[in-house]
This record gives sequence, structure tokens and C-alpha cells, in this order.
Amino acid sequence: MTLREKIVKGIMGDDPSIVREYFQLNEEEKRTLLFECKDKVERLTSLIKIQKKEVFERRLNLLLSVIDDVSTPSYVIDELLVEENMKIMQYVKDRTGCKILHALKAFSGYYTFPIMRKYLDGVCASGLYEAKLGYYHFGKEVHTFGAAYPERDLKSIVRFSDVVIFNSFSQLNKFWKDVKKKGKQVGIRINPGYSEVETKMYDPCAPYSRLGVTYETFKGEYEKYRDLIDGIHFHAMCEQNSDVLERILLRFTEMFGPYIKNVRWVSFGGGHHITRDDYDIELLVRLINDFKSKYDVQVYLEPGEASVLNCGYYVSSVLDIVRNEIDIAIIDGSFEAHLPDVIIMPYRPHIVNSYPPYEKPYTYRIGGVSCLAGDSVGDYSFDEPLRENVKLVFTDMAHYTIVKNNSFNGINLPSIVIFKKDGTFDVVKRFSFRDFKRRV
Ligand SMILES: Cc1ncc(COP(=O)(O)O)c(C=O)c1O
Repeated sequence: MTLREKIVKGIMGDDPSIVREYFQLNEEEKRTLLFECKDKVERLTSLIKIQKKEVFERRLNLLLSVIDDVSTPSYVIDELLVEENMKIMQYVKDRTGCKILHALKAFSGYYTFPIMRKYLDGVCASGLYEAKLGYYHFGKEVHTFGAAYPERDLKSIVRFSDVVIFNSFSQLNKFWKDVKKKGKQVGIRINPGYSEVETKMYDPCAPYSRLGVTYETFKGEYEKYRDLIDGIHFHAMCEQNSDVLERILLRFTEMFGPYIKNVRWVSFGGGHHITRDDYDIELLVRLINDFKSKYDVQVYLEPGEASVLNCGYYVSSVLDIVRNEIDIAIIDGSFEAHLPDVIIMPYRPHIVNSYPPYEKPYTYRIGGVSCLAGDSVGDYSFDEPLRENVKLVFTDMAHYTIVKNNSFNGINLPSIVIFKKDGTFDVVKRFSFRDFKRRV
């Protein structure tokens, strides 16, 4: 029996062990296999998800068994889990032929790029430094979008990017020649006029948004630039499922449909929570395939958060317990400095072995070392009392943490530690007073 036949048999028999073998097939073999079992392909999707869940659980248990070896505070990135997420991205590419770029703004940890570049087509950057990082360390396609580019950066942005996406026709008009002269592509970001992001701070299509050209402006200006525009980009989602994308695409195509036929590619931006357990991959696949067959263009996705979803931890230690009517545990880190989205968004992260307040005998408010009164993550209960030096492991802390942290109050930045496939740790960054002094 060939490997392919074995996998088909495994799919029919709901055997998750064939998932590993699927990812060993070459492109041609995968194409044939996907064609052969096209009526049963949802089963393969389910098996991939089951297998992934099992790996994530196993790795967390392994990490907890050796957590004493991690000095605190640290961000710990599990490279095996990053690869598991990459396989999900690969699977979406296998099923659709879309290209997937990792959004560096969510996670710029170039130490995991060797793994990520095996699966993805490149990166998307928010400006010069991310473009440069992508160019030198990722080494595939670099698409750059910035709300506005300063003239002094443009030459370098063009050098490090394959595609430069403009946020307005005035910037496109100012810089398109510099882009084309170097043989690079020009994109325009539009505002599809529809989104379902509840937190306005994170909604790129909120009223009066500065992000993306509105339909009214596009209609008026497009003719002047039609031959220059290689692609259209929109970004309208945040941590959402593919049903939201379906509704955005409906609105987008209603308005921009007539223009899509003139471009080579359309980017659906980021915010797709592709690697979340309940994400509807089948719907995403259908939406991309329908779009491609209707408009005959290359589709790009640029997820950031989904690339490293659930792949990282923030590990801290309790320094002290104080009491002011309630028990308050102070950790050797800071939410304000190390996990700022917890406070900005705000959201309640999960701490391993913790429960909602008062569900277990020992409840604490967890706070950071900074002077900010609100440097707190809320109340959690535990089976055992917290004491000095007990480690608290916050889950899902790879994205939008390292890239956003700061040294408020002179608090040192957490070390960055890779939890390697073989179960050992590699400390890739350690910070000191010098880093603080350089920044202030
Ligand atoms: C233009 C653009 N692309 C991609 C992303 C990545 O989004 P996410 O990390 O939510 O997938 C963002 C996030 O803000 C963005 O603004």
C-alpha cells in the first residue's frame, strides 16, 4: 500500500495518526489525495484538529513538568506548537492555493522563522523595521502596509519589500514611481465599509477610521491609477471566525467587485483565527475557492495572532502576598509593562491551574510590581494557597506581548525562552540595565 492509499484508508477510518503522514506528502501527492477524497475531506480537517489538540495538551504537560528550570519573568515560546499552527496554515494553502503571510506586528520572534518559513509564503510588515526584519530573517515575500510612509523611509521600504501597499491615493501618487522603478508591486488598502469588531479600538472600519480608502474616494480616483495598481488589500477583522469573513466579502465584492478583475491579487488582511479549535476551516476554504474562481486572482491572507495562537506562555513568580480586605499576590512582572493588551483591551488571560474567583478555597487578586494602581489582571482562585516563589503560568502569551512590551518603572523586560522540540529550553534573549538605559 502506498503512503497515499494508507492516508485515504485512515481518513475513512477516522484515524488521527495519518495526519503526520499527510504533511509528509509532496505537493503533487497532496493534490491527488485531496482530489481522491474530495467528498470526505471534512473528515481530514477534523482529524487534523483532533491531532493538533492532542499535541497542544501533551506539550503543556511536558512544559509544566520542567517549569522549575525557567527563570522568571520569561516569555516561553513552544517551537513545536508554532509548527503545529503552521501545518494548519499549510493545509489551508493545500486546499485553496492561497498565499499566507505572517503578520510581524503580532510576533516578530525571528528565532522561530526557520520553522515558519517552511510553511508560509512570507511576511507582512507595518513599516521599515519590520520589512527589514522580514527581508533578512524570513527571506520570502515581504508585503508592507503603513498608514503613511515618511519620505525618508521610502527608499529602504521599497528595497526590503516586494509589495508596497498604500493607505491613500495621495501617498500612492507620491511614491508609486519609486516602487515601480525597482520592479516592485503597488497595492492599495481599501475600507470595505463593514466589520463586526466589538471593541472600537480594534475595529479598522469603525466610523471615521483612517485605515483604508473608502468606496466613495476609490470610485472617484481609481481611473487615474488603474494601470498602476497590482493588488487590493483590506483588513477588517480581529480574532474572528470565517463566518465574519463571509459577510465582509459580500459587502466588499458588492462595492469593489468591478475593480477586482483588473488586479493580480487581493489580500483579505489579518484577524482570521484560523488555528483556534472552533475555527471553521471548511468555510474559509470555500470562500477563498469561490472568490478565486469568480475573479481569477491570487488571494493572500495575513494572520498574525493565529500563527502563534496558544504557542507561548508568560511565566512569573509570586514575590509577596499583601492584604487589603482581600488577598493580593504581587508577581515579579507587570501587566502594564509585559502584557499591555491585558490592560488596554482589556481581557482576562488564563493562568494554569487557576479558576474563577471563589470557586476554589484560595482567591487572590494578581497584581504587578509597577506603581500603576490598575496593574492587575483580576481575581483568580486556586486549590492551594499562593506563596512566595510559586510560579504562575499565563497561557497564550506569544502574540502582541513581546512586540508591545515596555520598561515602565524601569522594570526589566522578561527573558525570551524557546521550549524546543526535544523538551529543553534555549534562552534567546536576556535583558539588563543597558537595554533600559538605551531606551530612555
Ligand atoms: C494590515 C494588517 N494585517 C494583518 C494584521 C494581523 O492581524 P491579526 O494578528 O489579528 O491576525 C493586522 C493587525 O492589526 C493588520 O492591521
